Parts: sequence; C-alpha cells; structure tokens
Amino acid sequence: MATIQMRVNPEDLSQVPKGSEKIPDPGIMVIFGASGDLTKRKLLPALFHLQQNSLLPAKFGIVGVARRPLGDEFAKDMREGIIEFGGVDANDPKLDNFVGNISYFPLNFDDPSHYAALKVELERIATEKGIGGNRLFYLATAPEFFAGIIENLGAQGMAQPEQGLAAVVIEKPFGHDLDSARELNHQVNAVFHEAQVFRIDHYLGKETVQNLLVFRFANGIFEPIWNRNYIDHVQITAAETLGVEGRGPFYEKAGALRDVVQNHMMELLSFVAMEPPSSFEAESVRREKLKVWQAIPPIPILNTVRGQYGPGVVEGQRVVGYRDEERVNPDSGTETYAAVHLEIENWRWAGVPFYLRAGKRLKKRATEISIQFKQPPLLIFNRMQSTGPCAEIQPNLLTVRIQPDEGIALRFGAKVPNAPGMSVCPVNMDFDYAAVFGKSSANGYERLLLDAMLGDQTLFSHRDGVETTWALYTPILQAWAAKKPEVFPNYFAGKWGPECSDRLLERGGHTWRNDLGKKD
Ligand code: BG6
Repeated sequence: MATIQMRVNPEDLSQVPKGSEKIPDPGIMVIFGASGDLTKRKLLPALFHLQQNSLLPAKFGIVGVARRPLGDEFAKDMREGIIEFGGVDANDPKLDNFVGNISYFPLNFDDPSHYAALKVELERIATEKGIGGNRLFYLATAPEFFAGIIENLGAQGMAQPEQGLAAVVIEKPFGHDLDSARELNHQVNAVFHEAQVFRIDHYLGKETVQNLLVFRFANGIFEPIWNRNYIDHVQITAAETLGVEGRGPFYEKAGALRDVVQNHMMELLSFVAMEPPSSFEAESVRREKLKVWQAIPPIPILNTVRGQYGPGVVEGQRVVGYRDEERVNPDSGTETYAAVHLEIENWRWAGVPFYLRAGKRLKKRATEISIQFKQPPLLIFNRMQSTGPCAEIQPNLLTVRIQPDEGIALRFGAKVPNAPGMSVCPVNMDFDYAAVFGKSSANGYERLLLDAMLGDQTLFSHRDGVETTWALYTPILQAWAAKKPEVFPNYFAGKWGPECSDRLLERGGHTWRNDLGKKD
C-alpha cells in the first residue's frame, strides 16, 4: 500500500513555547516499595528528565522506603538506573546534584512506630533543605500493603499536615474486582480527600494517548463524522510479544482482563468515545470519561474470549508455554489473552461494535486503535479483477498507533494511474511522530509525576471511574473463575491469539486487523 508522509516545517516546531510550564513548589516525594523495579526503571529516570528540563523545584527531596536494610547503596543503584533506563549520560552535569537529593529509609509496612520515625526523618530532611511541609507519597508496593500504609500515614497526621500539602499516588492494580476496589476506595478516602488522591494508569502518560484528545478536540474536521452515522466499528488492540517476565505469581492472580483490559484499554476506549469536555480540567474530562463507561451495558459472556499461550516461536525465538513459565501453576487456568465485544448505548455510538483485545506472546508488539468507517452508500467504480488489497474497494480506516512507530494513518482509495478503467487501490496518509518531532526518551511517567506534584488530576482515575469499569468486568471474571477453560493452552506463542477470537468478530461480519504497525 502506498504511503504519503506528513511533514512539518522545522521552523514551526522551533516556535513551540519552551519554559512556560509550571514548576511545583518545594517538597519531598516518598516512594514506598522503592526497592522494586518501577522506581529504578521508570520513576527515577522520569524525575531526572524533569530535572534536566528544569521542571523540578530547586529544593526537592526523594526518599525511598522499603523493607530491605539498604543505605547509601540505594542512591547509587538509582544513579545506575537513571543512566541505564533513562538513556542519561553518566557525566551529565546535573546528575550528581540530583542523586545527592535521594535518600533511603528502611520501614516495615505494618509497624506504626516506623511511620512515626519516618515522619521525624522527613521533618529532618525538610528542615535541612528548607523544603517546608509538602509531601507526595507514592505507593509502588504490592497492592496488599496499600491500605495499611495509608492508614499509618493518616494515624501519624501525615495525610492532613498542619503546614503544606500532602497527596498520594497509587499504582495499579487498584483492587482486583468491584468489591475490593470499593473497599480500597473507602480506606483511601477515610484518610485522604479525593482531591489528594492520584490513581495512576501509565497509559495516560503516553504522548500518543494524550494526542487522541488533541486529534479529536483540536481539529474541527473529525467531530462531524465521529459517530454511528459514519463509523462501522472500532478495534483496540494491546498486543505484546513479551511473556510474563518472571512475574508468574502476580500474573497468576491477575490475568489479561484485570492486568490490561479493565484499566489501560478502558482508558483508551474512553478517549475514543467521550463527548467533547467543556475544558481540559480534571472535572470535565473525568466526567465525560465516566459517562462513556456508564453507557456500556453488561457485557454478555458470549461476547468475551479468553486464551492462554502454549509454546511457540516469537520474533524468531523459541519460547515456552505459559504453564511452563517460572512460578506458574502447571495446570493454570489464568488467561494471557482476553477479547471483548462491547457496545456503548448513547446517541453517538448506539449500534457501533467496539472490539478490545489484549494478549501476551502474540505475533507482534503493537498497541493500536483502528476506526473503520462505513463504505460509501453507492460504489460507482468497478472492482478490479485482481487479488490482494486492490481486489475490492476498502472502507476508510483511521489507525492510531499508540506504540511502537507512534503515529496516525488514514487509509483512502486512490485511482491507480495508467491502469485500465477506474482502478482503485488503498493508500495511506501517515503522520509519524518520531519523523516529525524526533524520538523522545520520556517514559510517560514524567508528565504524570509532574501533574501529581502540581495537583492536576486530569490524567488520573477518579474513584467512580475505577468502580464503574470494575463493575463491568467483575461478572466476567466471576463467570470465568466458575468454569475452568476446557482447552487451555489454546494459542501458540507467536500467533494472533485463539481462533475463537476470530469468531467473536465474524458474528458481526468483521475481522481482526492483524496488519498492525506502520506501513512503508
Ligand atoms: C502493565 C501490565 O500495567 O502494562 C503489564 O502489568 C504490561 O503486564 C504493561 O506488560 C504494558 O505496558 P506498556 O507500556 O509496555 O504497553
């Protein structure tokens, strides 16, 4: 398929305002569960990128908290993480100063006396650096510790300080079903006001996800056709080539539906389907997202598919099946693939199927949204007497490549020159992020951390949103738990998931788009 590249004038890019971003007030960020991978791979590199861009306050402290008795080696380890995972030069002049602000505090999550000592330590650091009372607590521990940490912070008066502001960032998973999410919300809100709570979904930190809102609401030409009159159906795919990467025990309890569909994919869905918010303020954006989720009727079990990978070949490498992964039950019934067909019952979307699928060890890594438009009401051009993509006139297709090869493409039919009659072949107009804006080293957490420090909740989940999406998926999880799948594994690693997933779309006259990624 031929592709027309989108270009931007480099002079226009140089006009983008720099340095107008807000800088948070001085404060201390306290990371619970700091000895885990997330801190080293994502959080600290992201904080350092903010420092490089002069977006951190001059007075800023980072305190890693975990059970292990670490000392100065914590800061050294974080320095290495920033270099390795943040793509940072070891001789970067800002690095030593930044690492000098990192310290470690060993703490037993269940021991109230340790929180009293932590409070004293934070006050000591604040006095030494002249930081004041602002604190951001980041919970990156296993989820079973969330409630206890929050309760202890409350008991020590750290959630409602006399001076300064406190906020809490909570990593996913936020609950494992509706009841547990409700209970956690209750525990969190007993200590922190909702305005202090930042439930993080790292997908919302991705530039391409935020760009969905810009694409829809900063351009006038899409809105009139963004509805059931013009759109035939929508597919959202989150395909990974990776397996469970040593996270067997976690994944055994999670599975694809909980791990990716209930959160990341529902966020993507809401950005595709929401009404234009009245402003880009947290309340307006979250309200419109919630309305989308609330308009989804219960998903019939017949409209769901689960799968589990067996052994196979992924990207040229032979890999084991899920049941042979480390610390996974050899008879496991956990799904590594999930697909659902859902509907949104409102005036914009009634009758438009939305198909979502997520899976591990699939053929290709690609997170992509495709919006297929309806055919013209009358096809006046003859079909070509050939095979391949030009065999019949294809409907317009808008694809949003969330990752990798980030970009947006619009497929349309074009007349093939010098061919007999009016021969029509599909071509693509393609906007390639990296080609236009350059490759970014940001990992998505930069934006979310900065927003949390600034108190902006627009890109974070609200308690109602979390409960609404869990309410949709809990009955499916219950039905799946009640009946162990008869044929697991049901797809080979390196394929596009189980065959029954194809049938899910065939019922609506559709097929999964498997030619994902950028077209040359
Ligand atoms: C995480 C899941 O939330 O998202 C992982 O727990 C998954 O299992 C990951 O691999 C996918 O994120 P990304 O940014 O690589 O698409």
